[in-house]
Amino acid sequence: MERNNQTLITEFVLLGVSGFSELQALLFLVFLMSYITTLTGNLLIFTLTLANPSLHTPVSFFLRNFSFLEISYISVTLPKMLADLILEDKTISFTGCAAQMYFLLFLGGTECFLLGVMAYDRYAAICHPLHYPCIMNNIRCTVLAAVSWLSGIFMSFGKTSVIFILGFCGSHEINHFFSDIPPVLKLACGDTFLNEIVFFMSALIFITFPFVLILVSYLLIIIAIMNMPSAEGRQKDFSTCFSHLVVVTLFYRAGIVMYLRPNSAYAPDMDKLLSLFYTVITPMLNPIIYSLRNKEVKGALRRVIARNCFLKTRL
Ligand SMILES: *[C@@H]1O[C@H](CO)[C@@H](O)[C@H](O)[C@H]1NC(C)=O
Repeated sequence: MERNNQTLITEFVLLGVSGFSELQALLFLVFLMSYITTLTGNLLIFTLTLANPSLHTPVSFFLRNFSFLEISYISVTLPKMLADLILEDKTISFTGCAAQMYFLLFLGGTECFLLGVMAYDRYAAICHPLHYPCIMNNIRCTVLAAVSWLSGIFMSFGKTSVIFILGFCGSHEINHFFSDIPPVLKLACGDTFLNEIVFFMSALIFITFPFVLILVSYLLIIIAIMNMPSAEGRQKDFSTCFSHLVVVTLFYRAGIVMYLRPNSAYAPDMDKLLSLFYTVITPMLNPIIYSLRNKEVKGALRRVIARNCFLKTRL
């Protein structure tokens, strides 16, 4: 009988913020604007770093990889969130739900590692400028990026499998905007103890480890900047580092609260708010913080704009 119940669920309902229609309309506008901003910003950086031969440095390789990742990451959740906010039908199929979780965890895990690699790259460039070309050679850049992508793929496969082999017997209403671990785990029946251990371990590896790496890198960078003789260069580097740190802390902090707490501390409304930090807010801020503050990217952008204006006046 119980087995029968479990096989019944073929789709879930994503509740989101159902109930308040004014809030839904407002959220729709805010999410739509941030989706457009994120896509535009990251596409700009992707094409700029690809088309500009003067930008073939490790930084721009990572920025290109990162902008590609961000476009994919935000497209896993936001289009469905937007549709759910205006359509009556908020269902998602069982497979759709599993696929969304798989890509969310895969791209999110890769992002955690890639942010760590980028912080290490800045540390090498600022603290060891003479050895930098040797530390960050082409091969090492490719390997570091490849490790980030591959570990995301495997970790996500493991985590999504251990959740979806559990049966779902109770409610099929996911009290969230998208298919994330805590709200889906809440609906699973059977013993989730093993899952909690797996999630905790992977959160330690994918969230805590890169976060500590980033904090240490920036701490060493800030110490190096303090010891710089020129006050002007110091201030600029300092403000760049500071803005990186703020965004990175927002991203990881939300991740830590969401994934590194016991399942018993599950709070649906708080989770919805928190999840917006890593799915909507930081992907929108990242292109601004990482690229448009970067000297080389800014220069390339200026050249492209100048060239286009020149062509237009000649036509
Ligand atoms: C990102 O890095 C990986 C691994 O080095 C590479 O295979 C992939 O082509 C890169 N993606 C982009 C868009 O540059």
